[in-house]
Amino acid sequence: MAEPDQPSTARMIDYWLGGEHHHPVDVAAAGAFEGAYGPCAAIFRALRNFLGRAVRSIADAGVDGFLVFGAGVPTRGNVHEVAPDATVLYTDVDPVTIRLGQRLLADSDRAGYGYGYGDATDIGTVDPAQLHRFVPGWGRRPVGVVFLGLAAFLDDDTLTRTLDELYEAVAPGSFLAIDFDSEELAAYPEALAMMGPAFRMRAPARFAPLLGRWQPTADGIVPVARWRPAGTPAPVPDAFYGGLATKPAD
Ligand SMILES: C[S@@+](CC[C@H](N)C(=O)[O-])C[C@H]1O[C@@H](n2cnc3c(N)ncnc32)[C@H](O)[C@@H]1O
Repeated sequence: MAEPDQPSTARMIDYWLGGEHHHPVDVAAAGAFEGAYGPCAAIFRALRNFLGRAVRSIADAGVDGFLVFGAGVPTRGNVHEVAPDATVLYTDVDPVTIRLGQRLLADSDRAGYGYGYGDATDIGTVDPAQLHRFVPGWGRRPVGVVFLGLAAFLDDDTLTRTLDELYEAVAPGSFLAIDFDSEELAAYPEALAMMGPAFRMRAPARFAPLLGRWQPTADGIVPVARWRPAGTPAPVPDAFYGGLATKPAD
């Protein structure tokens, strides 16, 4: 892959997770962010571990097809690695990330995973052929929708509309895995500025109402390390809250 001249949040996360799919420009941006905030690896590990527990619990409920928005780099405990019997369509809007994802999944020895374009705010942008190939029965069978690392970049109206359209599109019995950024960065203005003008911090009381018709499970929307923890929760700042919500079965 050619050396990118801009960092990407997806590859910075790969760096923090100890992956192999980042470049010096990403390492430099990650280092600058850590200089303004503090160490990030444990925080992103906790977030990725949350993804793993959430996806496994969706799979345990009998769901075997996943649509992932804002997927980033599909490695380091991503969806197909924690639910290997499921089929998965990863999507993103960044062409460099999509090409990287396609290259990584081409090495996979299974045909059940794909990576394509998808704007999370418009389900119509996902290629229908890819959707039906990798998430069979879309709209008719329960699926898992993974929506991580996105809510913070959508204003309340866009997020509410987007989640409502997804609710309408999926079959009853489907699940949504979602996270929100807390107000953790409020105390770190330099780091906050690095997140760009579109970044939105939210107080925890604001999370659940944004889900609209999606019904959070009894676990609620909680700091990701404390969502159904396997053992003692990782001692990380409560930067990300997350949870599962369902479209109840008829
Ligand atoms: C913070 S990264 C999170 C990556 C991944 N979900 C993770 O947890 O490691 C956000 C990703 O969302 C993508 N993205 C930004 N806006 C998007 C949109 N409207 N629809 C889909 N993806 C989007 C970015 O290109 C980036 O890869």
